[in-house]
Amino acid sequence: MSIIFHERSREFHLFNDSVSYIIKILPNDQLGQLYFGKRIHDREDFGHLLEFANRPMTAILQDYGFSLEHVRQEYPAYGTTDFRLPALEILQEDGSRLTNFAYESHRIFGGKPGLSGLPATYVQEDEEADTLEVTLRDKLLDMRLVLLYTIFNKEGAIARSARFENHGRKPVQITRAMSLSLDLPDCDYQWIQFSGAWSRERQVKTRRLEQGIQAVSSQRGHSSHNHNPFIVLKRPEADEFSGEVMGFSLVYSGNFLAQAEVDTYNVTRVMLGINPFAFSWKLEQGETFQTPEAVMAYSSAGLNAMSQTFHRLYRSRLARGVWRDKARPVLLNNWEATYFDFDEDKLVEIARAAKEDGVELFVLDDGWFGSRSSDSSGLGDWYANRDRLPGGIKGLSEKIEALGMKFGLWVELEMVNPDSDLYRQHPDWAIQTPGRMPSQGRNQLVLDFARNEVVDHIYDRIEEILAESKVSYIKWDMNRSITECYSQAFPADRQGEIFHRYILGVYSLYERLIERFPQILFESCASGGARFDAGMLYYAPQCWTSDDSDAVERIKIQYGTSFGYPVVSMGAHVSAVPNHQLCRNTPLETRGNVACFGAFGYELDLKKLSDEERRIVRQQIAFVKEYRQVLQFGTFYRLQSPFEHNIAAWMAVSEDKRTAVAGYYKILNDVNCEFRRLRLSGLDPDLKYDVEGMDNWFYGDELMSAGLVTTDASAGQAVPGQFCTDFWSKLYVLKARGE
Ligand code: GLA
Repeated sequence: MSIIFHERSREFHLFNDSVSYIIKILPNDQLGQLYFGKRIHDREDFGHLLEFANRPMTAILQDYGFSLEHVRQEYPAYGTTDFRLPALEILQEDGSRLTNFAYESHRIFGGKPGLSGLPATYVQEDEEADTLEVTLRDKLLDMRLVLLYTIFNKEGAIARSARFENHGRKPVQITRAMSLSLDLPDCDYQWIQFSGAWSRERQVKTRRLEQGIQAVSSQRGHSSHNHNPFIVLKRPEADEFSGEVMGFSLVYSGNFLAQAEVDTYNVTRVMLGINPFAFSWKLEQGETFQTPEAVMAYSSAGLNAMSQTFHRLYRSRLARGVWRDKARPVLLNNWEATYFDFDEDKLVEIARAAKEDGVELFVLDDGWFGSRSSDSSGLGDWYANRDRLPGGIKGLSEKIEALGMKFGLWVELEMVNPDSDLYRQHPDWAIQTPGRMPSQGRNQLVLDFARNEVVDHIYDRIEEILAESKVSYIKWDMNRSITECYSQAFPADRQGEIFHRYILGVYSLYERLIERFPQILFESCASGGARFDAGMLYYAPQCWTSDDSDAVERIKIQYGTSFGYPVVSMGAHVSAVPNHQLCRNTPLETRGNVACFGAFGYELDLKKLSDEERRIVRQQIAFVKEYRQVLQFGTFYRLQSPFEHNIAAWMAVSEDKRTAVAGYYKILNDVNCEFRRLRLSGLDPDLKYDVEGMDNWFYGDELMSAGLVTTDASAGQAVPGQFCTDFWSKLYVLKARGE
């Protein structure tokens, strides 16, 4: 058992080989935080880590010197002696917001309970993790607060969440309920956030933590392009390969807040949870409210090790279903090939060419249903457009399967165009505030997924199509943020619940479809990467990383995404040039070399390529098929950042360390440049590796310490026949010799 309770000192120590987490029941029976970091020896009493001092202008709770303002806590409340922002806030009938949740009991058990209706990491065997459940009680309100902590035995990671139970006779309004709060004893950290906008998602932004509040959040109803519900704190000297790093990830897809408040005593309070802005949840007697889960990971060996913890955990104990551990099919999506301009014959011809080159899955994107011939109508009318597809989805999917490929389909189930039969029949099913003009985004409104009947209707429509057709893959899109948030089905005092109820509705629809069609591979998408979050990975094991398919932009986007999410979860496609987002021309090889570190595919009409380009495509597909196990499921290392260098590099290493692929990307070409080496990582120091294309072998330790010589034709003068260009790249394939 990796959780110990010391009765005399009233301390909990959660630990495994890599991390320790220590909680103490404070003198006032609230919970204090003593330590989170590298594994330390257990001992009976860590009480010395709880320090008291008599500080002027401090409100004192009990004994002289005991003020919550100066105590590190587990799940703090505001209103007594702590003036920092709290983890919880509960508005009561008399207008008070004071609470006092004091220790009542606890349970320690093997395994990990699920969270009803919410995505969460899980275990397959109880031996994989241990859980501590601490129950605290507010006597006056007769409410319980249950804090859950699960420590994974083989990962430096702890999953946390909180549950509120109202046993009292009066209803309350929860206005703040974080998933995780962690007080750290100092602030000597850099904060890393992953921010951007449409087509430039998850750019790495680093700054020093300072006194005051730094935060990222979403108020858009989805996790958003703009900020990601994942942040990192690292020691200033920590880098990809060494030093102390903590990652905090919220397993949630709606409005979130990720924040660090540094007080003027340099204590850092990290918080992650549902965004309290515009949130409230009414809890009647007998009702419970469960927060989403947050996962925190600690690494004493730098950023790569932290990311690898999230990769392993999210790949194998958050993602589910038959596709979880399977190499992903090479797909071709018709969006950038045709946009809305297609009919069945055109699609079949595109698919036929794709099949010739080795593509395994053909995906029909937007435009196949209702009156949808542009983005101004048809959303919500989930029946096939028979003018374009005479045999419906059933007929087309059969034709695609007859070619020897699988068939996939795009949907955007959460949305409705005002110009649709669905909206004409049920205008009240769209989210809008009575008396106010509903804003449109992409000519569409958001369906009120807080209402069960709306979710039921959409389920019935799509279930019918999927049941009669041969659909192996779904791309689930979501193309606008929520505005004028209001549900006509809920009373005034429940309007603060709608954002959260909406995302619970999305989760429930996913759950029902997954259960009904367990063979289908789901890929989430929200105008590209506006919902690339851990919550979605529980339902859809891969996500369209960005609408930006330009290879050079994708290096940054995939690099940034890799901090918190596994490579296999990143949908990554080769598209046409000039690129449709940037008008940039990049070599086809580079487009493939970037996309192959992901769930690989194409986003173009292969028939429009030259014979030489088709030859390259065939090679790319053959390469991905041969190496996708290591590319998608290998241990991933970031080697050189595109945010800091003209040359970016990363690599994936197989579990047995016998195969590795390194991606090397030179953004702009140079001339008469230096001799170059790339220090690799994750290899077996004692194995001899052959590098494809080089007539020499190298020990793993040499490749990791002296480096692989990567000098290219731009060192010195260009030699005829040997050249590189802007946006040039290369894959290095390494294979170990012998047994
Ligand atoms: C969004 C998606 C694209 C494509 C279009 C279709 O923008 O991100 O990949 O599916 O919608 O309308």
